[in-house]
Amino acid sequence: MIRAVVLAAGKGTRMKSSRTKVLHELCGRPMLWYVLESLRSSGMDQVVVVVNDELNAEMAQFGVTAVVQRKQRGTGDAVRTALERLDSDPRGRIVVACGDMPLVQVETFASVVRALDASDGAVMALVSAAMPLPSNFGRVVRNGSQVERIVEVADATAEQLAIAEMNAGIYAFDEAALRDAVTKLRSDNAQGEYYLTDAVGYFVEAGKKVTAVTADHQHVLGINDRAELALARREMNERLCAAHMADGVTIVDPQTTYLEPELSIGADTVIYPNTAISRLSQVGSNCTIGPNSRLSNARLGDRVTVRESVISDSSVGDDAVIGPFAHLRGDAALGEGVRVGNFVEIKKARLAARVKAGHLAYLGDATIGEDTNVGAGTITCNFDGVRKNVTSIGRDVSIGSNTSLVAPVSLGDGSLTGAGSVVTHDVEPGERVAGNPARPLPKK
Ligand code: UD1
Ligand code: CA
Repeated sequence: MIRAVVLAAGKGTRMKSSRTKVLHELCGRPMLWYVLESLRSSGMDQVVVVVNDELNAEMAQFGVTAVVQRKQRGTGDAVRTALERLDSDPRGRIVVACGDMPLVQVETFASVVRALDASDGAVMALVSAAMPLPSNFGRVVRNGSQVERIVEVADATAEQLAIAEMNAGIYAFDEAALRDAVTKLRSDNAQGEYYLTDAVGYFVEAGKKVTAVTADHQHVLGINDRAELALARREMNERLCAAHMADGVTIVDPQTTYLEPELSIGADTVIYPNTAISRLSQVGSNCTIGPNSRLSNARLGDRVTVRESVISDSSVGDDAVIGPFAHLRGDAALGEGVRVGNFVEIKKARLAARVKAGHLAYLGDATIGEDTNVGAGTITCNFDGVRKNVTSIGRDVSIGSNTSLVAPVSLGDGSLTGAGSVVTHDVEPGERVAGNPARPLPKK
């Protein structure tokens, strides 16, 4: 059995935040989410996160076991706390990772486990990297080619600080050896903490072997403050853009295209600059999105155009053209070939195929049938001061400019309103109305 322990109980004081560090987000997910994703993808049988009380209250979203470490007495104490909660498996292996390293990839976990398994008699493998200086990472002290111990920066001599090989804080252990080591740690060091890293010296003195694998420092950046969070966000966003480009999406400017994990974007879709796509949005193929647009939980068909517009919690059918300057929100559902733009807001409304609302309209709590034309300045007056009321508009309706539809009201198929109409009563199919309040016009 191979299980992972993620350390995340630290306060993260350098974030200067009222929130626990690992809950801070990059590209729409908490940093801890990324670490857990990578661990899941690397085939762990179980993942346990060591948390503080505050983080514990928010762990349900992650679907993993949380173990509370009441006092942050060091990484060694954190691992011991986790192990106390896990049934012992004498032949098991334990991977230890940090919750504040969102850029860590599956390959890093895989390589440290491989190193443990490959090295005959090794009870521990660690990931080392050459971090940019100055670095707070512990230094890996070797005796010849053998890893001998790790020295924390607070305890290091000037000579040890000059060592370029540093401890990334990611390990694979023989479980039985780790269970023994965490009971032997002492806190007589500069920080008065139980250092997990002292396990290295403990093993080596006991004649056991510790091995190391190197990783690119970019993959093991820990996030301690907001500046590092911003750098990690940029790197993560580059990865997300690269993955979609590899799948056939054109991203004109990845630096100003803001993506999240778990999006689906079809091939030959082109994304123009200054565009953010978030919250599980799905975009079909051959679409044109942006510039200056925001999609949040949006579902778009194929060949959809969205320019300078905002779409949230809404869906858009094939071949529709949205924008410039449209706002779709709160369960707007647009059919095939619909055209909306130029300061049109749509909320909780169903627009059937080929409806046009080209200019300056508010359509809320409404259904609109096929091929209906909504004139400039049309408003569904859905709110009567107490409740939201529904407007239902048939197919092939012609709504004149500056029509106010005072809901609840319905307009039959093929009906017409004159410019400036204030419609307070239902309009029959084929009927033509105008005025304030709108009255039937003579039949042609
Ligand atoms: C640790 C390593 C250091 C390594 C660095 C890499 C130790 C003693 N040092 O240092 O060699 O280079 O990570 O990032 O392990 N945590 C708990 N409970 C605690 C203390 C810490 O859960 O009581 C968690 C923190 O939330 C954090 C992780 O453990 O996610 C690392 O703790 P931190 O105190 O930041 O250790 P470093 O000083 O960074
Ligand atoms: Ca740290």
